[in-house]
Amino acid sequence: MINSPASSDAFLRGFWYVAAVTRDIKPSKTIHRTLLGEPVLIGRDMTGAVFALSDTCPHRGTLLSRGIFDGETVECPYHGWRFSTNGQCTAIPSQKEGQKPQPGDIRARTYPVQESEGIVWVFIGDDKKAESLPAVPTVPEIGNRLQLHLRRTFHCSIDLAITGLMDPAHGAFVHASSVWRGHRDVRDKEKSFSPAPMGWRMDRHVASGNARAYRLFLGGAPETEITYALPGIRVEHASTGKATYCGLTACTPVTADTTEVHHIMYWTIPGGAALRGLVRLVAGRFLGQDADAVKDMRDGQAFDPETMLVEDADTQIRWYYRLKKEWQQAQKDGRPFQNPIEPLTLRWRS
Ligand code: FES
Ligand SMILES: [Fe+2]
Repeated sequence: MINSPASSDAFLRGFWYVAAVTRDIKPSKTIHRTLLGEPVLIGRDMTGAVFALSDTCPHRGTLLSRGIFDGETVECPYHGWRFSTNGQCTAIPSQKEGQKPQPGDIRARTYPVQESEGIVWVFIGDDKKAESLPAVPTVPEIGNRLQLHLRRTFHCSIDLAITGLMDPAHGAFVHASSVWRGHRDVRDKEKSFSPAPMGWRMDRHVASGNARAYRLFLGGAPETEITYALPGIRVEHASTGKATYCGLTACTPVTADTTEVHHIMYWTIPGGAALRGLVRLVAGRFLGQDADAVKDMRDGQAFDPETMLVEDADTQIRWYYRLKKEWQQAQKDGRPFQNPIEPLTLRWRS
């Protein structure tokens, strides 16, 4: 038994974060997102390209996303300053010739943004050296048409959201159901793990006997592999002979005590489109149960109790904090990140 590491609420900078999915950003429209406490306007210009700007007007801070976007320039709703999608100011209606500033003097901050496999990613961190940005996370190649996106606000810190989702021992209590999993139905589990880029992998294994929801959708006992990577991305890849499923779950910090959880699913299942409504219902219910569970934990932890991490069920949570600490230290020291995870077999009951 090990005392719980003091969780550090500092946001991890230097990563791509899921900000939205393709469908959220219509042509010639903008949306607002708060990412790691920063206001970001994300838009799609009339050619279809996405762009991201700081959402506070350089003049007096008004939210630019509340203004007008015509597909080419964003107009601030307060005094009508206009900005092109690369952040350059193009008009300041109040200024007479020769007065300071002129549009050429003003730029709105931009954010690197990329759209891939139906997901809109925004990079938060030092982006001055655009060529050295890491690649956007991807899911294994399975046709990669986004089938379903669920988004849910967790009213807790990024640490609670991530560790709450990766926790392996809560299923029989939080997600129990007469249809797919008996309450308190726990069985022996043994899984082998290996290091993976920025995280670890639960090696490919046959999904467990008490995961009935799984069998229902994939029509048999699937083989599954799960990876976790900083800053909070879980990718699950499951397949039977005829069907493949891939899920990407990403936690994006909004503020210190609000986290947006995106669950994005891809699949190639014969007749799979018809499944969408049912999967939305079941996965939405799971996510809601997790959101409630971490809220209960947050409410308890608000009293600042001493907590602990047990062997082996909580080992992955310990790994998460170790990775996070190593990333922060490496950033501080200006050296490359060194993955501290070593191959290991973990045993628990769930
Ligand atoms: S606050 Fe935006 S133009 Fe003045
Ligand atoms: Fe859960």
